[in-house]
Amino acid sequence: MFTLPQKDLSAPTTCLGPTCMQDLGSSHGDDLEGECSRKLDQKLPELLGVGDPAILSSDTSYLSSRGRMIKWFWDSAEEGYRTYHMDEYDEDKNPSGIINLGVSENKLCSDLLSWRLSQSDMQRVEPSLLQYADWRGHLFLREEVAKFLSFYCKSPAPLRPENVVVLNGGASLFSALATVLCEAREAFLIPTPYYGAITQHVCLYGNVRLAYVYLDSEVTGLDTRPFQLTVEKLETALREAHSEGVKVKGLILINPQNPLGDIYSPEELQEYLVFAKRHKLHVIVDEVYMLSVFEESVGYRSVLSLERLPDPQRTHVMWATSKDFGMSGLRFGTLYTENQDVATAVASLCRYHGLSGLVQYQMAQLLRDRDWINQVYLPENHARLKAAHTYVSEELRALGIPFLSRGAGFFIWVDLRKGCRGSGRCLQANPKWLKTPLPLRAKSQVTNAGELVIASWPEGPAATVDLGRSGAAEDRLWMCHLPGRCLTWLCA
Ligand SMILES: Cc1ncc(COP(=O)(O)O)c(C=O)c1O
Repeated sequence: MFTLPQKDLSAPTTCLGPTCMQDLGSSHGDDLEGECSRKLDQKLPELLGVGDPAILSSDTSYLSSRGRMIKWFWDSAEEGYRTYHMDEYDEDKNPSGIINLGVSENKLCSDLLSWRLSQSDMQRVEPSLLQYADWRGHLFLREEVAKFLSFYCKSPAPLRPENVVVLNGGASLFSALATVLCEAREAFLIPTPYYGAITQHVCLYGNVRLAYVYLDSEVTGLDTRPFQLTVEKLETALREAHSEGVKVKGLILINPQNPLGDIYSPEELQEYLVFAKRHKLHVIVDEVYMLSVFEESVGYRSVLSLERLPDPQRTHVMWATSKDFGMSGLRFGTLYTENQDVATAVASLCRYHGLSGLVQYQMAQLLRDRDWINQVYLPENHARLKAAHTYVSEELRALGIPFLSRGAGFFIWVDLRKGCRGSGRCLQANPKWLKTPLPLRAKSQVTNAGELVIASWPEGPAATVDLGRSGAAEDRLWMCHLPGRCLTWLCA
């Protein structure tokens, strides 16, 4: 843990994230909300770190305004991905290629997972698996998910299959929840820095925006830590959103947090949930990293382990296999909510986001194999995550670079500001760091995607990092995905 220099006190506590397609073009109403949205629309490309606002207004005979916005999200990420795909790193074939650090993936246990998923018990094809099924997911899978979550979340009472909906990943779940919980242009509070793609997830279908709760890197007292979320900050953010004419419908909590790797204590969770209840806000608790806690001493507790939820009808928990099981390509996610209206509405959208019967079968087999998970997979995954974390931490210490040391997730949040020179977004390496065990030589190039940086150094691999949508500008530092086992450069 470390203390970062004082933040610019004039910076707002809340900032509204981008609005969506419904606000584009000339179809705004003249109401306050329309006016607010119009201003935000003008800021949209800027907020997302992309160049020319004309992209959004340019007329095309092919796409609706909604289609233009959806395409714009794609285009804004394209340049970095194109660069990456043209020169992907491969240990043998392209050792000087680009490692993509802008996507959160754990590849450390691919060997174990490939082995487990290719065992004979995974290969069943029954007629019922090939037919339409309950859009919430087959009962056999929802029963397995309920047992799995009861066990790993340590719920005080067994969780119930009727509160489970399965679908194709956490992103779809954000999208579905935003659509069924909010009216267009309403907002979710989200502590920032945050996993930036949520902006897109809640926006593309639901036209929902985010209202940022800025966390501060400054340590203000004995009992505080950098980037600590407090009820006071939540209250301020809520007030500011209201003062801008935006209705806040909920709060998104990511625990363990991406990208800080931070963990909320049960007491903190309780306080945030009570805050939400006081304001009748839904809470989406994203626990997709819950089994990627590799330091037992950090004492992670799932929200589902709390003795009593302050507002169970407005508390919705999500988990997925993308992170904890390193299977982001398989597309499996699950919602747990006691609210049957919410479960049913999300299930209705599963007509478009559902899982194939065969994948449901495989997932049930995987989740029920508690012996393999407990005795083989989790210990090995944690050991490998910890080794990667130790490797990166030691290199950072040797370089004299301060960072947040957490015991969860795939991230290390690094403060490189002291070593940065140059102006604007493009930063140069501190020459001192060139004389380090790592052959770092920054060759930073800021693309017109704002904060996408391509860095390379002579003997090592190159890397791309996209921090552009992580939140608070002055705390946009550098994120390293542990499994990549490499250090990369940054932007501000
Ligand atoms: C915190 C968090 N939630 C959700 C997701 C989306 O996961 P999925 O691949 O299951 O859609 C991610 C992906 O990076 C994430 O980091």
